[in-house]
Amino acid sequence: MDRLKEALRGVARELAKSIGSGTTLGLGSGSTVATLLEELSPLVIAKTKGVNGVATSTQIELVASRCGVNLVPFRGSVDLVIDGADQVDEGLNMIKGGGGALLREKIVMGSAKSVAVVAAENKFVKRLCENGVRIPVEVFPMARESAKVKLSMLGGVPDERLLQKGYPYFTENGNIILDTMFEPVEDPRELEMKVRSTPGVAEVGIFTFKPITVYRLGTDGSFERLQSND
Ligand code: A5P
Repeated sequence: MDRLKEALRGVARELAKSIGSGTTLGLGSGSTVATLLEELSPLVIAKTKGVNGVATSTQIELVASRCGVNLVPFRGSVDLVIDGADQVDEGLNMIKGGGGALLREKIVMGSAKSVAVVAAENKFVKRLCENGVRIPVEVFPMARESAKVKLSMLGGVPDERLLQKGYPYFTENGNIILDTMFEPVEDPRELEMKVRSTPGVAEVGIFTFKPITVYRLGTDGSFERLQSND
């Protein structure tokens, strides 16, 4: 078994303790949370009558249905979100949306009673946008050019996400993504608000929800539990 999977198995054992019959999980998207769900679902299904899940993308919906999770529509809140991240800073603020699911991930995470994020240790930095990681900004297509101008005025360098052959990338909501570089981010919450107030921006991939628990996955198969309340 590879080391990341071993670490995720440990996290799954810990999370399973807090999941009972009737728990509704919010399911973030991406490869890390997919592996976590594969490890978590048999543990939970064995001790409950089944677990409900709200999917944030078709990717995780397919994984969840393979794992025997009972997929339910989003009815305004979930008990526990499990999710991954592209980058995590010292205050446990995150960049998310590498897979394009940021809008639904933010809606579901914003409704959760508790949040658990899993991320490999190489995703942890002092400040967001270090190491060339850009912030995905989901934009209504009509605002493609005007949003680029506004993001530049905020100090960003926007770059439209394209598919391999150069076609525009569209999210599951029919929007485009402007992957935007900001110099290492001083104040994530302030930047999140400023970007989100740009006309045509549907959501920004800066996540600052608190309280949050982040599991840092070590390359030796261990994990560390980090907690931030503010
Ligand atoms: C999906 O849009 C993202 O927010 C993912 O949570 C993030 O990109 C992490 O994905 P991986 O676990 O695949 O790295």
